[in-house]
Amino acid sequence: MRVFVAGATGAIGKQLVPLLVAAGHEVHGMTRSESKRAMLHELGAVPVVADALDPDQVAEAVARARPDVIVHQLTAIGAVDMRHLDRDFALTNRLRTEGTDHLLSAGQAMGVRRFVAQSIGAWSYARTGGPVKSEEDPLDPAPAREMRETLAAIRHLERAVLDARWTEGIVLRYGAFYGPGTSMAPGEVQFELVRRRKFPLVGDGGGVWSFIHVADAAAATVAAVERGSRGVYNVVDDDPAPVAAWLPALAQELGAKKPLRVPQFIGRLFAGEAGVMMMTDARGASNAKAKRELAWHPAHPSWRQGFTAP
Ligand SMILES: NC(=O)c1ccc[n+]([C@@H]2O[C@H](COP(=O)([O-])OP(=O)(O)OC[C@H]3O[C@@H](n4cnc5c(N)ncnc54)[C@H](OP(=O)(O)O)[C@@H]3O)[C@@H](O)[C@H]2O)c1
Repeated sequence: MRVFVAGATGAIGKQLVPLLVAAGHEVHGMTRSESKRAMLHELGAVPVVADALDPDQVAEAVARARPDVIVHQLTAIGAVDMRHLDRDFALTNRLRTEGTDHLLSAGQAMGVRRFVAQSIGAWSYARTGGPVKSEEDPLDPAPAREMRETLAAIRHLERAVLDARWTEGIVLRYGAFYGPGTSMAPGEVQFELVRRRKFPLVGDGGGVWSFIHVADAAAATVAAVERGSRGVYNVVDDDPAPVAAWLPALAQELGAKKPLRVPQFIGRLFAGEAGVMMMTDARGASNAKAKRELAWHPAHPSWRQGFTAP
């Protein structure tokens, strides 16, 4: 198939493009930068330079590539201050609203068969009931104040993709990424905070996180491109775990001292309401549907072994 990847140079794009190429697909990889053409060539893609926020550029890029499938992996996350999450996600939120709409219009004009888009299965589910959620469970109807716009952008993306009846609209709710190119990898910002004992355990650390190795996220995306059906799939590992379990285990793996413990009101000072929610109240996600329907299995079934895998 001809596959158009928006976000081809990112943490997931860099893993996804070579897998698609190895599976025999012709990949057209989008970037804003002329200077990344060479990188895309090396990954095996036909480089396409366009700004995702410019509808004409997107329409022209997609028209030229004539894809069977569009994959939307656009984000602009950078450094995030949890106390100002919506502010720091403002550009990502535009990519998830306007960017999604532009890609969908361009895809509709070309009659693409499938449209696969990145969403979030970590920290996004309603904080009621059991610790692990399926795709049927509702997203958080009352997100922490500082992440309302971010969750609204996720909802926009999901609705727009699932409502596109002219194509097979597929939403992948990825777990928290770790592995090469992400902020959770040896020497990278989150791991360094843990190693330097600057990532404390807040309250009871009862917030449940679902992780996914970025290479497993890419493999699930290939499966969705090739055989996904309209709907939502959680793309997470087999081992949703409370912060109180994974954070001390990670600290130990990194040879660091045990994480500090701080009460919620202190947590709120440095991580805001959103950070405290993630640490104490978040829900994890189940990958049963993705395994069953996409015939995908994570090569790193648990963060316990995965965190230190290459
Ligand atoms: N589920 C998760 O936990 C999750 C999800 C996403 C990201 N993250 C984390 O976030 C970090 C990196 O994310 P990131 O968002 O900074 O970047 P990233 O992984 O580098 O990916 C961003 C991609 O979007 C493209 N892009 C952004 N704005 C664009 C625009 N206006 N037009 C065209 N393409 C555009 C970029 O292309 P060019 O720059 O080449 O133009 C790039 O390919 C990683 O550390 C990862 O761990 C986590």
